[in-house]
Amino acid sequence: MAARRLSCLLSRSLSASSAAAAASSSSSGSASLLLSQGRRVNRFSTAAATEELIIPPVQISHTQHLINGQFVDAASGKTFPTYDPRTGEVIAHVAEGDAEDINRAVAAARKAFDEGPWPKMSAYERSRILLRFADLVEKHSEELAALETWNNGKPYEQALHAEIPMLARLFHYYAGWADKIHGLTVPADGKYHIQTLHEPIGVAGQIIPWNFPLLMFAWKVGPALACGNTIVLKTAEQTPLTALYVAKLFQEAGLPPGVLNVVSGDGPTAGAPLASHMDVDKVAFTGSTDTGKIILELAARSNLKPVTLELGGKSPFIICEDADIDHAVELAHFALFFNQGQCCCAGSRTFVHERVYDEFIEKAKARAVKRVVGDPFKKGVEQGPQIDNEQFEKVLRYIRAGIDSDATLECGGGRLGSKGYFIEPTVFSNVKDDMLIAKDEIFGPVQSILKFKDLDEVVRRANATRYGLAAGVFTRNIDTANYFTRALRAGTVWVNCFDVFDAAIPFGGYKMSGIGREKGIYSLNNYLQVKAVVTPLKNPAWL
Ligand code: NAI
Ligand code: MG
Repeated sequence: MAARRLSCLLSRSLSASSAAAAASSSSSGSASLLLSQGRRVNRFSTAAATEELIIPPVQISHTQHLINGQFVDAASGKTFPTYDPRTGEVIAHVAEGDAEDINRAVAAARKAFDEGPWPKMSAYERSRILLRFADLVEKHSEELAALETWNNGKPYEQALHAEIPMLARLFHYYAGWADKIHGLTVPADGKYHIQTLHEPIGVAGQIIPWNFPLLMFAWKVGPALACGNTIVLKTAEQTPLTALYVAKLFQEAGLPPGVLNVVSGDGPTAGAPLASHMDVDKVAFTGSTDTGKIILELAARSNLKPVTLELGGKSPFIICEDADIDHAVELAHFALFFNQGQCCCAGSRTFVHERVYDEFIEKAKARAVKRVVGDPFKKGVEQGPQIDNEQFEKVLRYIRAGIDSDATLECGGGRLGSKGYFIEPTVFSNVKDDMLIAKDEIFGPVQSILKFKDLDEVVRRANATRYGLAAGVFTRNIDTANYFTRALRAGTVWVNCFDVFDAAIPFGGYKMSGIGREKGIYSLNNYLQVKAVVTPLKNPAWL
């Protein structure tokens, strides 16, 4: 479907959308809302953005849970509102799951695993279903990107050209794995035939966050399905819509009922019952480190289900004195500000060598001032709103903490506009290691720049954090690069690049950034059991 491009008037405030007005009077189940066009938009940016809006029409057709192949209301009949972060206005009401919905979804997944065709089906047929799904994602990419932007606030062009293609890529990748998962024969003892069977683990409980709703869906669902498991997925309360949309596409692709169940709802009331459920065989979680600890505890206190966790970070981005400064400025900017700063691996501690520090600060500030912030449906916009009021307030609190410390506020520091959750791109220089803004995960558009003198010192400081998700290094010296890649304690080290992702590249954290790896070959073990099978060899001629 070709995107329709509209010219809209600029005004100082976002007008209430007709969709929002329609949504507030709708209820769960029957909601069928259209992201309408022609509204006025605000131009928040300090730089010129185009005045064009790109909004492909998209319908919210699914707001109920998907359980056993049916879209159903919550057992309690309750719904909760979901919002447009551009305005803070309601766009739909969604079924609100709690323990009873989780029980029903787990029962469906259990039955689909124990009695259904999915785990026993030929791996080739499973692979074909995953491929059909990936093709449907590509076919519906404009609607999916529009829905993601509407519910999450990320720039539409980024959703369309980065997140959605990666969603399809991940399922193409896992479709490729489905028929290549097999065990070994083990030559341990000549009197026995010993083999290993790689079997699906069973019912996977998956809990995802709101910053990349569809990518997180793919990182979790892809490997679980490729290995033959069944799933109960709990989406983030802020962004329930796109997972329901793609769950419907999975049905069209031929996924049997009960294999993928999607429940919307809050963490403590829907996520916790899933993590502690006795019939769930494995739990995978992405989100905050504090909630990760709760998930691990719930799994331990229930049935000792294995847990994979992908948690917070405070990733260093190190710029050496020999770096190409203009390139480093651009990459450090991208490393921090991408996705409104809402990335677990954001390069949120920018360490710059003292000899290039002043030049770097000037250029980093100039780049941040130029950043185009505004309606994420507008062409050329680089930064949309933060996800919700809670995150917006959290980021502003950290900015105030930065201002109250001895750090220097180079630019930004406040909200933009009076509606929605837009924050000015903010840069602090003269940041010290013990300041709150250098220690905590801010999860917003706030760059903290620190000065360093020598390599050993910066390695020690970069590693002096409870996190270990990612790191970036900028240098033209191969020996320096090799030193950093060995010395930094992080699950990913990017050299002269940042945020380079692919389905085949494993991702995960050291220390309190998580347990286990997602994507790539390493993700499969999270969803497999290894069974050793031992059979005596009876042929006397052989013995
Ligand atoms: P969160 O970790 O509380 O929420 C993430 C997911 O966990 C959501 O689906 C939520 O419903 C669920 N959840 C929350 N409490 C739960 C519980 N007691 N039992 C089971 N599930 C539960 O993260 P939140 O509150 O959205 O954001 C807080 C901070 O976490 C952010 O400011 C950011 O620093 C970090 N974060 C990190 C992410 C990452 O990609 N690693 C993603 C989102 C947030
Ligand atoms: Mg939380």
